[in-house]
Amino acid sequence: MASAAAIELAHVTKRYGKVVALDDLSLSVTSGVFGFLGPNGAGKTTAVKILVGLARPTAGGGSLAGASFGSKASLHKIGYLPELFRYQSWLTAREVLALHCELAGLERSRWAAEIDRILATVGLADRGGSRVGTFSKGMQQRLGLGVALLDDPAVVLLDEPTSALDPVGRHDVREIIRGLRDRGTVVFLNSHLLSEVEQVCDAVAIVDRGKVVAQGDLAQLLGTSSVRVRATGVSRETRAGMARFGELDDGADGAVVIKGIDHERIPELVSAIVASGARIYAVEPQHESLEERFLSLLGQ
Ligand SMILES: Nc1ncnc2c1ncn2[C@@H]1O[C@H](COP(=O)(O)OP(=O)(O)OP(=O)(O)O)[C@@H](O)[C@H]1O
Ligand SMILES: [Mg+2]
Repeated sequence: MASAAAIELAHVTKRYGKVVALDDLSLSVTSGVFGFLGPNGAGKTTAVKILVGLARPTAGGGSLAGASFGSKASLHKIGYLPELFRYQSWLTAREVLALHCELAGLERSRWAAEIDRILATVGLADRGGSRVGTFSKGMQQRLGLGVALLDDPAVVLLDEPTSALDPVGRHDVREIIRGLRDRGTVVFLNSHLLSEVEQVCDAVAIVDRGKVVAQGDLAQLLGTSSVRVRATGVSRETRAGMARFGELDDGADGAVVIKGIDHERIPELVSAIVASGARIYAVEPQHESLEERFLSLLGQ
């Protein structure tokens, strides 16, 4: 059944023999960039394979781009970058893209312009004529991303798009993903790289052993906050004053971290520190990083 969500999994279970790869998993994505985050073996790739019809769920259903997932109607509207892929080493980048233009049923008159656009988007404009066999890992990954973006799909599913990329490549991919969001494309991003997800996703689900253990926008997931204060002349009295705002922790660099403080109270905190005679050099609000949150969720 079609639904308003661009991506919907409803009570999906996938068993491989005794292994439960997905365990009654439900999620729904309507817009923006959605991060699907979890450790190795959590079920991320399985979820994407089910969405694109490469694996059949043991139970459950859902939709993709307005049609049942796995259906031809949905596949026409999506782009997919698989986790482990190889293109024929003897083909040039242009030939790989042309092959996919053909598979996608693009009118032949549009191929050249579309291939140029894609090569430019993924930073391979000057390598279109090179054979895939001569490409570095990162260049192959860029080409794979390019294939996923052919013909401007409504929904793009990316399974670990930056795993082979250097920092510049990661930055480029983030920019590409932001560009997709700006034009209204829905992006589903599988990753175990928390920093990637943190920088580019509007909403996140954390998956572990086939179950969603937390879900929401980043602000919700990273709700706990703290403030790092760097000051000199911190007396016992200063510390007692700071302890009224939250639990104190000493940073390695001599800073004091006040955990669990409501950010609205920062001006009050600063006044109290100054009144105690200490001199403030920096007051830095901090959110618990996604990594810390991830580890605490997986530890539970
Ligand atoms: N074709 C298969 N046959 C048997 N078991 C499978 C198959 N595909 C996946 N699994 C199992 O399902 C579980 C989830 O695997 P999946 O590839 O979805 O994890 P993942 O979250 O993508 O991990 P990674 O971060 O390592 O890519 C694992 O226990 C895996 O061994
Ligand atoms: Mg995977």
